[in-house]
Amino acid sequence: MCRHYSSYSAFLLLLYVRCQSDIDSSSRQVLEVRETEDLLRAVWASPDCRGYLLLLHDPLPLLTFADMHRDAWDYDGKYVVVGGSLPHLLQLTRTDKGRKTQHVVGALQTEEAGEWRLYVNQQYWAKGMLPVTTWRRHSFTSDVDLFPDKLSDLRGALLRVVTFVWEPSIMYRRAEDGSLLERYGVDIDAIALLAHAMNFTVRFDEPPPGELWGRQLDDGSWDGIMGFLDRDEADIGVANMFLSYWRIQVVEFTAPYDLEASCFLARAEPPLPRWQALAFPFQWDTWVAILLGLVMSGPLLHLLAALGSSWGEWRSAGETARLAPSWLYTLGLHLREAQARLPRQPGTQVLVAFLWVYTMILTIAYSTNLTAFLLVKKLPASIETLEQLSQSSLKVAGVGELFMTELQEASDPNVKSMAKKFEEQSSKQEAYQKVLAGEAMFVENRGYVEFVAKIKYSKGGESRMRVMKECFAPNNIVMAVQRRSPLKAKVDQVIDWIREGGFIPHSFRTSLRKASTSKEYINWSSEGEEEEHQGKKKEKQDKGKGNGLIPLNLDHLQGAFILSLAGLIAAALSFMLEMVWTRTSPA
Ligand SMILES: *[C@@H]1O[C@H](CO)[C@@H](O)[C@H](O)[C@H]1NC(C)=O
Ligand SMILES: *[C@@H]1O[C@H](CO)[C@@H](O)[C@H](O)[C@H]1NC(C)=O
Repeated sequence: MCRHYSSYSAFLLLLYVRCQSDIDSSSRQVLEVRETEDLLRAVWASPDCRGYLLLLHDPLPLLTFADMHRDAWDYDGKYVVVGGSLPHLLQLTRTDKGRKTQHVVGALQTEEAGEWRLYVNQQYWAKGMLPVTTWRRHSFTSDVDLFPDKLSDLRGALLRVVTFVWEPSIMYRRAEDGSLLERYGVDIDAIALLAHAMNFTVRFDEPPPGELWGRQLDDGSWDGIMGFLDRDEADIGVANMFLSYWRIQVVEFTAPYDLEASCFLARAEPPLPRWQALAFPFQWDTWVAILLGLVMSGPLLHLLAALGSSWGEWRSAGETARLAPSWLYTLGLHLREAQARLPRQPGTQVLVAFLWVYTMILTIAYSTNLTAFLLVKKLPASIETLEQLSQSSLKVAGVGELFMTELQEASDPNVKSMAKKFEEQSSKQEAYQKVLAGEAMFVENRGYVEFVAKIKYSKGGESRMRVMKECFAPNNIVMAVQRRSPLKAKVDQVIDWIREGGFIPHSFRTSLRKASTSKEYINWSSEGEEEEHQGKKKEKQDKGKGNGLIPLNLDHLQGAFILSLAGLIAAALSFMLEMVWTRTSPA
């Protein structure tokens, strides 16, 4: 048949047939190819079972085409290439299309008339075409499966996985001299499971420093992970990657193996100074009410006493003319001081009796609450919601432009408005500095910010960072494979098992535990070290003798001492004022 079409450079017969059914003219397309562009006329999308018979005379148009027009090809089709030579077949399996096509069978005529040798491509298994059987005298010499499944068991093939350190998904354990001992984390575990399920071995590669997931360069090419996949320097890219539609131009994404919200990393404000604890038992409006009560009760008592003075109340003391003793008296009541003098007149008696009850309730409420507030450190009010953050003066810091896009495209107006204050950082370290300086919050996925707060900037259960309560927009976490990669279907299937097995949360906990024992990931800067040291000492004092009871120390009671000091100063001042007053007054 080859001879019959020998005037054409290639002859392509597209058979759109259900397997084993008869070929009728409607399910068949016959194409005569003289130059490369002719192949574009073929209809490459077809139903169910697809067979393609390529009769080659001049292989050049086909080989050229196989490296062009990525989408014009049926990657899941079964191809039988008749004619050409073994080098041509080998060349075909190395083209962009050839690499990604699972089923290519070559038929080459041998020296013997009427004898054809059949070769199958091996895809990931090995390089080259494998001779499998021979067609001689109207039958095959051996019975073989020409289209075996080459993806379920990759037979230990080496797949190139491109990744970079991205805690906590990908973490590195290093030896003293900086050499890499081990990679671990959720993403590494997921790759290991894939490798186990599909029987491949892994070689990890890293994009050059500074290139992360990759972005499009001015000449239209891509760097980072995207570039590695696009240039066929890697088979799989993994680095806590979000499913993003603009990257789909260059790569394909697998099924998601995780779902993560985007959260904000904020500075953990230091606790308020202890002396302020004296004010904490009541809210400010309660304090205002009490103060009003105190201010009013003095004059009220004075008024009643003055009215009653005509009947002899307090006359003997001769103090009714002055307001101050009444105030001092009611102040004493508020502090539940035993009063040396009792009112003798019904009006003042009733008032004082009610004041006793009122102040008793107040002082019990205050003193019982006070103990608790003396013992715990109170944290200042902090930004916890998206609304508060969007209205605050804090910037939003992020690494990579992805979050910018995400903020802009958010449906929540509070999140959308944050796009205006987004500042892209060149490194995470730079972003942390901004957060610690209280200038910005750092946006990343939940696993990441939890890792930074719990491990990186944490020691002895205290952290310099915290995660803002409210998060936004959950993201699908996916891996990337080459566009049209034959691996995708099988990888998706395995990822579904991984997800359903609940393996990811388990892996996350395990790797965090591992990181928390690693010096590499814990980072308190030198000033932090100092604070931390003092914190530790205080902690020890707080813990007391270890039976859970905490004796109050000077630190707890500093409020009382500060108050008495203030009293001393005020007394000294009023004494001096009085001296000055008596000297200058004419009497
Ligand atoms: C994986 O591939 C190796 C190498 O071909 C093979 O010996 C082994 O049996 C395979 N393992 C499984 C589980 O199929
Ligand atoms: C710790 O912080 C310092 C600067 O604050 C930085 O130079 C260093 O790389 C950080 N170490 C780690 C392990 O993040």
